[in-house]
Amino acid sequence: MKTLTEFIIEEQAAFPNASGDLTRLLNDIGIAAKFVNREINRAGLTNIMGYNDEVNVQGEAQKKLDVYANEQFIGALRSGGECCAIASEENEKIIAFENEKSQSGKYVVAIDPLDGSSNIESNVSIGTVFSVYKRISKSGKGTTTDLLQKGTDLIAAGYIIYGSSTMLVYTTGRGVNGFTLDPSVGLFIRSHPNMKYPDSGTIYSINESNYIYFPDAIQKYIQYCHFDDPTTNRPYITRYIGSMVADFHRNLIKGGIFLYPGTIKNPSGKLRLLYECNPMAYIAEQAGGKASHGFGRVLEIEPKDIHQRSPFFAGPTFMVEKIEEFMQKYSPDFGKK
Ligand code: AHG
Ligand code: MN
Ligand code: MN
Repeated sequence: MKTLTEFIIEEQAAFPNASGDLTRLLNDIGIAAKFVNREINRAGLTNIMGYNDEVNVQGEAQKKLDVYANEQFIGALRSGGECCAIASEENEKIIAFENEKSQSGKYVVAIDPLDGSSNIESNVSIGTVFSVYKRISKSGKGTTTDLLQKGTDLIAAGYIIYGSSTMLVYTTGRGVNGFTLDPSVGLFIRSHPNMKYPDSGTIYSINESNYIYFPDAIQKYIQYCHFDDPTTNRPYITRYIGSMVADFHRNLIKGGIFLYPGTIKNPSGKLRLLYECNPMAYIAEQAGGKASHGFGRVLEIEPKDIHQRSPFFAGPTFMVEKIEEFMQKYSPDFGKK
C-alpha cells in the first residue's frame, strides 16, 4: 500500500537534482482537494441545514462551491510557496503572489478548480483539473508570460474526480497514476498504478445536441459511431455526463473517446486550453492515447491568452486518429482563418 505523499516523494527522488519543491506543490494540491471533497460531500445537506441562504448559520456569507474550491487551491498554493502565480478559470487575470516566499517559487499553476459545476445540484461527479509549469521569469512576481506555455512544456498535470469515490490522477511524464481517497483516514492511496487506455474502445462522449452546428467531419464521425460493423465493434456506445473530468476518467478506464469539437457558432469549442485541454492531453498521451484539436496535438498549441479555448478530442490513439482522418477529409478548412 502506498499513499500519494509516499509515491510523489519516491517518484521525485529518481531525479538527482530534484529540490523537493514539486513534491511539496503536488502535496499541497492533494491537501486542498481533501477540503474541497469534504465541502462537496456536504453540498447535499446545505438546504436542510440552512447553509444555502445568502447568510449561513454562523452569519457568514455562503460561498458557491466553485468559489470555495478556487480559494482552497489558491490558499494551499500560496502558503506552500513553491508556486509564484496561478491562472484560474475563476479569475480573469493571473494571481501573482505578493509574499516573498511565493515570489521565489519556481512553478506556475493553471487550474479549473471545479469542473462540471452545473452538475453539483444533481449529485453527479465533478472534478478539478490542474497544470504545472516551470516559470520563465527569473524572480519576483510571476507573469502572464510564465503561464502562456505550450503543453509540451508541462512539468506535471492531473485531475481530481469527486465521484462515487474521490480520486486524484496525475502524471509528471513518467506514466499516469491514480489514488483513491480513503475518507476514514483521509489519505489518498495508490489504487490505479500505471494507468493506460485499453487497446479497444467502444465509447464516444459528445454533446450531440450541438449536432446541427458541428462541421461535416464531426457529423460524419457521429454517423460512423452509429454504424453497424461488428469487425470494429460498432455501433459504439454513447456516454455523456457533462463533466469533462468524469467523462474523460470513465473513458480512460473503459476505453473511449471524449469529444468537444468546435461548432459553426464557436469554432474553438468551449473548453479552455490552459486548464482543461492541456492537462487532460498530457494525461491522455502518458496513458498511451492521443489528444488532438482535430488537426494535430493539443500540447503543441502556442497559447496567446490564459482563457483561450480549443476543440478537444482525447482517447485511445486509434479513435483520435479516426477523428483527425475525418477532419482532414471532410472539413479540412474548419476553424482556420
Ligand atoms: P466548468 O464547470 O468548469 O465550467 O466546465 C464545464 C465544461 C466541462 O466540464 C464539460 O465537459 C462541458 O463544460 C460540458 O459542456 P456542454 O454542456 O456544452 O456539453
Ligand atoms: Mn471546466
Ligand atoms: Mn470550472
